Amino acid sequence: MADDVRWWQRAVIYEVCTPVFQDDSGDGLGDLPGILRRLEYLQWLGVEAIWLTPFHPSPMTDLGYDIVDHTAVAPHAGTLDDFTRLVDEAHRRKLRVILDLVPNHTSDQHPWFAESCRSKDSEKRRWYVWADPAPGGGPPNNWQSDLGGSAWVWHEASGQYYYHAFARDQPDLNWREPAVREAMFDVMRFWLDRGVDGFRVDVLWHLAKDVRLRDNPPNPDFNPSSDSPCQEILQVYSADQPDVHDIVADLRHVIDEYEDRLLIGEVYLPVSDLVRYYGTQRSEVHLPFNFQLVQAKWDAPHVRRVIDEYEASVAANEWPNWVLGNHDQPRVASRIGKAQARVAAMMLLTLRGTPTLYYGDEIGMQNTDIPREKMRDERARSCDGKGIGRDPFRAPMDWEQVAAQREDPASMLSLHRQLIALRRRSPALVTGEYRSVDTRGPVLAYVRSLGEQAFLIALNLNDLPRRLELPPDIGPGVVEISTRDPRDRRATGSTIELGADEGLVIRLERPPAARVSTMTPAR
Ligand code: GLC
Repeated sequence: MADDVRWWQRAVIYEVCTPVFQDDSGDGLGDLPGILRRLEYLQWLGVEAIWLTPFHPSPMTDLGYDIVDHTAVAPHAGTLDDFTRLVDEAHRRKLRVILDLVPNHTSDQHPWFAESCRSKDSEKRRWYVWADPAPGGGPPNNWQSDLGGSAWVWHEASGQYYYHAFARDQPDLNWREPAVREAMFDVMRFWLDRGVDGFRVDVLWHLAKDVRLRDNPPNPDFNPSSDSPCQEILQVYSADQPDVHDIVADLRHVIDEYEDRLLIGEVYLPVSDLVRYYGTQRSEVHLPFNFQLVQAKWDAPHVRRVIDEYEASVAANEWPNWVLGNHDQPRVASRIGKAQARVAAMMLLTLRGTPTLYYGDEIGMQNTDIPREKMRDERARSCDGKGIGRDPFRAPMDWEQVAAQREDPASMLSLHRQLIALRRRSPALVTGEYRSVDTRGPVLAYVRSLGEQAFLIALNLNDLPRRLELPPDIGPGVVEISTRDPRDRRATGSTIELGADEGLVIRLERPPAARVSTMTPAR
């Protein structure tokens, strides 16, 4: 593979949800020694990078995204020495380690917030977003929290409101305060010095808020029967502000003080806004997470449009990426069903761009029923309106299923392993160009090619068998991987018979005519 291809362009990233991945201490929460013990599995699976969700001291009201000390390891998760051992062992196994960076807010138990609350004159008052009541009384503006209801909490003792974009016990930091920036840059350096290979930055597009705190406008498309209450207002002034890009460029600057590290941003925005987080004036994140497949209606014409529009929006010196699931979203196998989840896995691992795989999706884990009294996510009690929250997507990793599926060549796990292995040894599947094949109906097809190597990927997004007629420039090939039958090696010609819910990766004898593939190194 070409030397100018960076590790994060080749790697499959695997999200480890730290509190539920492997609990070795037996206290009910996952820990770093547990993850260390499971590195053998991750290496066997073939992923090359792991992203660990937060493991810092925290009251754990938001899965650890409510941090009280960004440069420590929570007692339940282990020690800093455990962390060092984990990074060393991961690196020995050629696995990169990416940490979650949560710079937008802290827990309200954080000493910074305690100091900030002391009085209006506190030296850390400006570290958080404080504001006086509106002229007629009440919250400073109409901003809503992500969990529903006003995003402002009255603090009687110091006589102002503080702002929280998420839960009320997660006050937002004020990134306009230079000391906050410096403190968070030091957090990054603390972990970078300990060998981490990069960060996934939590809610990146929230970091800057309108200085004038203007009211957000109502959402004209709001539908009370299907939308959650927090969608009633558009986040025009509370997120994605023009100057957030200066902050992101500064974060990137810190990353670039070190060699070959990666910056990923969690950004839920339409593609045209999302791609601006690659940076227009200065470099920003290497990968703004692309959640299009998580949100897409699962039918072939729609998914094709999503992919093609995204492909067209990512510039030549930017690198695409794809996500199918994460700890905030219903499991893919529950969204689209078990059979289609296999097809989706084939898509994730053959599209152009870095794939991120959510733990457990490789064994087809589904949303789990959690009794109400065991639910930990505050959303179960608030804005999502349906009262389920995110616990069903965060069940403990099912290691028994892993053991059973490791032995079964037809399992979801074996399919993932096969796809990842093929990707690793096939430059066309990593840096090769993407070309969508014009098909009608429920089959989605595309070609990935580089030089003489070419694959046709044909995905039946439907539960009825289908015949696919190929354009004349796509010649014969041989099936490399089928989602239905691990032994399938049939030869293919100008028409392809796809079984119900079948996806095929077909190695073409030669690339389709006259496509010159060029690749600009990603910046
Ligand atoms: C991100 C996390 C989510 C968390 C939120 C607030 O969206 O992925 O789990 O609740 O940030 O930190």
